[in-house]
Amino acid sequence: MPEADESGEAKQFHAEVPQPAEKFYLKGSQSLDWGMKNRLARIFNPLSGRTVMLAFDHGYFQGPTTGLERIDLAILPLEPYADTLMLTRGILRSIVPPSSQKSIVLRVSGGASILKELSNEEIAVDIEDAVRLNVCAMAVQVFIGGEHEKQSVINMTKMIDRGMRYGIPTLAVTAVGKDMKRDARYFRLATRICAELGAHYVKTYYVPEGFETVTAACPVPIVIAGGKKIPELDALTMAYRAIQEGAAGVDMGRNIFQAEAPVAMIQAVRAVVHRNEKPEKALELYHSLKNKKK
Ligand code: R5P
Repeated sequence: MPEADESGEAKQFHAEVPQPAEKFYLKGSQSLDWGMKNRLARIFNPLSGRTVMLAFDHGYFQGPTTGLERIDLAILPLEPYADTLMLTRGILRSIVPPSSQKSIVLRVSGGASILKELSNEEIAVDIEDAVRLNVCAMAVQVFIGGEHEKQSVINMTKMIDRGMRYGIPTLAVTAVGKDMKRDARYFRLATRICAELGAHYVKTYYVPEGFETVTAACPVPIVIAGGKKIPELDALTMAYRAIQEGAAGVDMGRNIFQAEAPVAMIQAVRAVVHRNEKPEKALELYHSLKNKKK
């Protein structure tokens, strides 16, 4: 029997102070459960509401692409500057130290290679393995308008259902076929379909015309992929515009790890994403960090 607690004076209960009811800061995420929100809060910085995801999952369909030949040597030095690592379970287990404090977004679709039709993907990771790896979200490629459109959409909805059981969010990654037009109209369609079917956030590409209509029409956060390597100022400008036009962050790979100075580049991208730094200023930061290293 616990001893009677007679010291509880009324003032200790602070009856006049209402308990705070936090409003969750991420668009469209208010109704999610605690575990989902907690995982999303490990991806999206609660202070800025934004994220710098470092994407290096490219090997799952294209092998050791430029910059990813040695992930231990090229990517691990970038880890301290990323909010989140986006990668495959093979690289996670073989290369990333389990002591890493970074949130993990795990690539869970796959099965196609650059030698064949890329949209022909299936779910390639069991939800139990995602739980085992303590991931904060699972990424599924969705090919709207692609040859295997329906199969990829159902891959996504299956992972959303499985993730909901364990409190793990799903990131829908919109992939665009080579012969398809990358414009705001297409990305409004693709991102909205993913969100309507339950994706917790969506990755898409930036388009210079009408990107704000893509973010406005999508009820959950959008992050942009970097795409092919372009000059540093152009990549920083793209990130800046995307953020100013409503994106909640970047999921950037090649424009970071293929830069001449990747450690400097990821810090410049961080400045744009988290501090609204203008592209020219961020480029100055890039050059000063790059020169400091020499
Ligand atoms: C592509 O399918 C991969 O999933 C990458 O994660 C994605 O494209 C982002 O990387 P990048 O910035 O190099 O385009």
